[in-house]
Amino acid sequence: MSQKKTQRSHTCGELGVNHLNQEVMLCGWVAKRRDHGGLIFIDLRDRYGLTQIVFDPEIMGKAAEAIEAFEKAGKLRSEYVLWCKGKVRARPDGMQNTKLVTGQIEVACHDLVILSEAQTPPFPIEDDIEVAEQLRLQYRYLDLRRPYLQNNLITRHKMLQIVRQHLDAHSFIEVETPILYKSTPEGARDFIVPSRLSPGQFYALPQSPQTLKQLLMISGMDRYFQIARCFRDEDLRADRQPEFSQIDIETSFLDEESLFPILEEMVQKLWKQILKVDIKAPFLRMDYREAMERFGSDKPDVRFGLEIQDISDVFSKSTFQVFSNALTTNARGIQGSVRAIVVHNGDVKSGAASAADSFSRKDLDDMTKHLSAYGAKGLLWIKIQPDGEMQSPAAKFFTVEEKAALVSRLNLKPGSIVMIVADKNKVVFDSLGALRLELGARLGVIPKPEDKNFAFLWVVNFPLLEFDDKEGRYFACHHPFTSPRPEFYDDFIHGTNMDAIQASAYDMVLNGVEVGGGSLRIYRSDVQAAMFKLLGISPEEAKLKFGFFMEALQFGTPPHGGLAFGVERLAALLCGVRPIRDVMAFPKTQKGTDIMAGTPSEVSKEQLHELNVMVVKTPK
Ligand code: AMO
Ligand code: AMP
Repeated sequence: MSQKKTQRSHTCGELGVNHLNQEVMLCGWVAKRRDHGGLIFIDLRDRYGLTQIVFDPEIMGKAAEAIEAFEKAGKLRSEYVLWCKGKVRARPDGMQNTKLVTGQIEVACHDLVILSEAQTPPFPIEDDIEVAEQLRLQYRYLDLRRPYLQNNLITRHKMLQIVRQHLDAHSFIEVETPILYKSTPEGARDFIVPSRLSPGQFYALPQSPQTLKQLLMISGMDRYFQIARCFRDEDLRADRQPEFSQIDIETSFLDEESLFPILEEMVQKLWKQILKVDIKAPFLRMDYREAMERFGSDKPDVRFGLEIQDISDVFSKSTFQVFSNALTTNARGIQGSVRAIVVHNGDVKSGAASAADSFSRKDLDDMTKHLSAYGAKGLLWIKIQPDGEMQSPAAKFFTVEEKAALVSRLNLKPGSIVMIVADKNKVVFDSLGALRLELGARLGVIPKPEDKNFAFLWVVNFPLLEFDDKEGRYFACHHPFTSPRPEFYDDFIHGTNMDAIQASAYDMVLNGVEVGGGSLRIYRSDVQAAMFKLLGISPEEAKLKFGFFMEALQFGTPPHGGLAFGVERLAALLCGVRPIRDVMAFPKTQKGTDIMAGTPSEVSKEQLHELNVMVVKTPK
């Protein structure tokens, strides 16, 4: 064994009673120092765990090395890095720590080297302390010393190892594709990079390797994967970062029936090997339409009820304008709806007042405000009073027949509360979907990560196109390379019944999170050209942006399809954490900045000059 005083014989996470009386060398950071009547205790930390080191003058003896070691131990401060040597001994009775893997032993040290001193850290390096996120991000490398973040990164690493092994076993080839490239539309803005060698021209960072992986299918790679970096300039949320990773997959000659089992098996392995949880396959498949109608979301959390119910027919003749307006067919022949979520007495915690009584006027006002973000113009509520009468701001508009029909349809009892949104379907679904999640959280019916309740499903048969009222044109729901389902080819080619055309697109959803999404692709250039045309992309623009791709489609393109998983979203679910920044080493803030490195930042005039770029600051 090397005697260099920078090297260790063991890590801080592995010593136990089977090492008693062994001479060991450890390295690590001082997590804590305690002085106790002539004894000095150190908790030494590394990635693997914590080990208690004790400096006990009684047994250290009088050798110069030992005296020096004791003196140095007195100078140790938090986060100093040290090397030490000593003998493993059992902790005295009553002093064991059952929560710690190494909690049965301590190392009685007789030789110590301080490898690095440390300034007092801006916050203690411990889990479960309240420190402002800003400060943590500014000193990310210190925050990353916390076991919580280290364990998350380790889980992410394990996950990717399992993925690589699994895909390799299924003949997938890992191929890296360029980062300096051309726009790959996935619904966000591009990050662009000026070219020095081609003045006035720009690269775009890929929003995903979508066109590249399709080109790899044309080139005959057959099965491809990549742990791919993606860049999207979009508004950030807890589950969105401007720069993130995908497990990106593409295959030839496979449809959903043959692709899904490979992906389900991958997920089963991840959950089994990392969480020791058995996931049942095949996964439930749910039509997009059903997901929207029942859960108001294309990524439904199906672990709890509070489902949405359609009550349009009850109010088909209503004189209440909010309802009648929603149910009027618009210029594009599309009708809105009136839908509701009911909370019954049984849904609120026992001991609480009735469901109706647990929502005050203020609660309802707050929820209404919250829903306005989804376009809802209001949230109408009806409380069923003890005598069975309806209390509601709109009660006077309801006929006796409507009231009776509503009671029987929604199974209303005294104490029930009904919450209603009437609007075009998109607004109704989005707002009631959000309301359902809020109610779920408020009523405490959404399972917690520690419940280990994992509800995987595929959402299938997405619409191909979505009409944007503001822009007055269609957009691709997934991306413009997604194929219509075969039974809709005719409508697609002739441009008829556009809103009803379904796509061969699918998302994998877990507990209300879209963990992955993909589709079968258009593999004929004339169909691809028709798609661009439908999306209002002129032939000139299509040629400029995708000419190379359209050309490639003409050289023998296999039927192909695939999908991409969000690495951070999967890892966060495996770690049981919500914000994806907690499974990233160096995440960005909500504003897309890195406050540690101070980026983005200005560049020098010389650099701009070289790039032929001029900065023009427009007033906000
Ligand atoms: P899509 O845009 O659905 O599809 O992305 C696939 C998956 O990537 C994850 N994801 C994100 N994760 C973190 N931050 C973001 N900003 C972010 N955006 C997306 C999600 C999502 O399900 N090329 C297609 C895939 C294909 O068709 O094969 C694509 O990128 O988990
Ligand atoms: P108003 O007619 O605007 O006074 O609204 C009467 C009630 O209906 C209020 O409680 C509103 O919150 C509610 N309301 C208004 N618009 C809608 C809507 N689109 N869907 C559901 N409730 C609404």
